[in-house]
Amino acid sequence: MTFPSIATAVVQWQASHGRNHLPWQNSRDPYRVWLSEIMLQQTQVSTVLGYYQRFLDAFPDVASLAAAPQEAVLALWSGLGYYSRARNLHRCAQVVMEQWGGAFPRRAEDLATLPGIGRSTAGAIASFCFSERVPILDANVRRVLTRVLAFDADLAVAKNERQLWDLAQQLCPAEDLENAMPRYTQGMMDLGASVCLPRKPSCLVCPLQSQCRAARCGQPENYPVRTRKLKRSAEAWWLLIAVDEAHQRVWLERRPQQGIWAGLYSPPVFQSREALQDAAALRWPQADLSQCQELPAFMHVLTHRDLHLHPVLLPWPAGDAAPAAEAGAGCWADAGQWAAMGLPAPVRKLLDSQLGPLA
Ligand code: ADE
Ligand code: SF4
Repeated sequence: MTFPSIATAVVQWQASHGRNHLPWQNSRDPYRVWLSEIMLQQTQVSTVLGYYQRFLDAFPDVASLAAAPQEAVLALWSGLGYYSRARNLHRCAQVVMEQWGGAFPRRAEDLATLPGIGRSTAGAIASFCFSERVPILDANVRRVLTRVLAFDADLAVAKNERQLWDLAQQLCPAEDLENAMPRYTQGMMDLGASVCLPRKPSCLVCPLQSQCRAARCGQPENYPVRTRKLKRSAEAWWLLIAVDEAHQRVWLERRPQQGIWAGLYSPPVFQSREALQDAAALRWPQADLSQCQELPAFMHVLTHRDLHLHPVLLPWPAGDAAPAAEAGAGCWADAGQWAAMGLPAPVRKLLDSQLGPLA
């Protein structure tokens, strides 16, 4: 069987059937392309659109982002989830300023050394902005390529993954790279997003159908092959929501820089109802714990973990001072203030629905 030659078909299809009017397209500014690629890593296009514009308005270039406080960056990211992306984004901007003289490196190999930029994101930036002949291999493109090639080796095995990267490299356009590379990269993304879908690929309208080995064998849904399953775990978290009713405020604390919700603001978190009770009694003796009210628990799904969140409302005695200073990096915040703070999405929903101006 001959090696497929897909580049021309992908480039042509992209021009007529791909997405060509997204706000990060038709720009070769690596700052804008990088920002969009990071946001799009785990978030769909329709959600990213609003965030992208707000982010650019606040931080129009890599220098302004690098100079911003981390809290401001997390606040603008609030609701997009996967906050390690935002922390890496911020660090990456600082590395570009400090080690690359304020200009992103142009080669994928160098881009991939920056915080938060993996090999595929590096390939996207280098091919979009600098027309470098390098592939991407995000989940969508992985699906398209394993099907076209009928590549059935287990991608959980590093050697197979490397081999697919090598094949992806060989399949890149061979000529007119200046125009072809950005279009090819976008075309592969677009095919994965709109045609070569996980459960129901539209082979009949696919520009690669005549060359696609999986379509010929009739079972494209069987690709990609990956044996290793992510191990999921579950955890229960108890949230102590101290409410200063007189002022419509809640007590929020900054999370540590490591772990879940790192750097974001949240009500204090405990591993059990008892731990919450004990800590509240110790730290805030003036509160009346018999007034605690348990709200319905709900689940928040993270990448590797299900968080079962148990909110407990604790009314704060009217007129009493805020918790002691030893409570650490905490503050009272009203709805107007928490709107502008970096909060995990489920915490924001909870506060807005229980205590917000519209509650
Ligand atoms: N997902 C990742 N990168 C993208 C892009 N450039 N356009 C649309 N969706 C994407
Ligand atoms: Fe995917 Fe079908 Fe196109 Fe092959 S022919 S790339 S399986 S949509």
